Amino acid sequence: MYLILLGAPGAGKGTQAEFLSRKLGIAHIASGNLFRQEVAKGTSLGLLAKSYMERGALVPDEVTIKMILERLNSKNCSLGCLLDGFPRTLAQAQALDKALAGMSKVVDKVIYIKVSEEELLRRISGRWLCRNCETPYHSITSPPKTTGKCDECGGELYQRPDDTEDTVKGRLKVYFAQTLPLLDYYQAQGKLIEVDGEAGVETVTENILKALAMNKPNDKRVLSNYCVS
Ligand code: AP5
Repeated sequence: MYLILLGAPGAGKGTQAEFLSRKLGIAHIASGNLFRQEVAKGTSLGLLAKSYMERGALVPDEVTIKMILERLNSKNCSLGCLLDGFPRTLAQAQALDKALAGMSKVVDKVIYIKVSEEELLRRISGRWLCRNCETPYHSITSPPKTTGKCDECGGELYQRPDDTEDTVKGRLKVYFAQTLPLLDYYQAQGKLIEVDGEAGVETVTENILKALAMNKPNDKRVLSNYCVS
């Protein structure tokens, strides 16, 4: 089962991925988290990624594709995975299709989380993340139980340096120009599922699970996890 979460910056991809990967029992691969881990380690990949991320631009395709395909080949992705933040360009989508075809696999479904621009800005401005496990919080809609500490692992919470107003506007521009065309790419393949991302977090999760169940995935083992109470 290979699923993609598609949506603008702040749409809730990371938030939903946390719940869905647990519920569906598949690995979660988040390109932004992987880049941020490299930045924190100070690797050459991290230094390169930082120079793009801090101005809201996309990291070049060849670098991003290589990093994600390596992760896709790891053991914990053998049963499938949930991709969050990748693909973001047509070249990335085509590279993913080609790599999966090489493993006799396909992208099963693409979940598009639709949120208005006004709401995206509101969400990003209140976002806090765990420095340790990257779990996202929002100062108003989903605050941590203890201020400044992650509920999951107790890690310190921080605000992302690319969440400033100017950088977010740049990220949205990039999203509309380079990532939005992927909706047509996956729609043409009959794989696109659109979900209203403006409801509460739990409602969005339930709606995604219901939509997946209605769209009859082939993998019966995962299908059994789709039942919602
Ligand atoms: P990345 O980390 O992927 O950022 P993004 O796509 O811009 O998305 P975000 O992480 O900002 O938002 P999200 O949709 O995950 O929202 P979240 O769940 O946190 O990428 C960062 C950078 O890395 C890029 O700009 C680029 O430079 C580089 N990069 C990454 N992937 C790349 C690629 N494939 N190619 C090239 N470069 C790449 O939620 C946001 C907030 O809203 C949180 O506070 C959350 O608590 C809250 N919230 C979530 N859902 C709800 C809800 N339903 N109701 C109310 N609040 C909610």
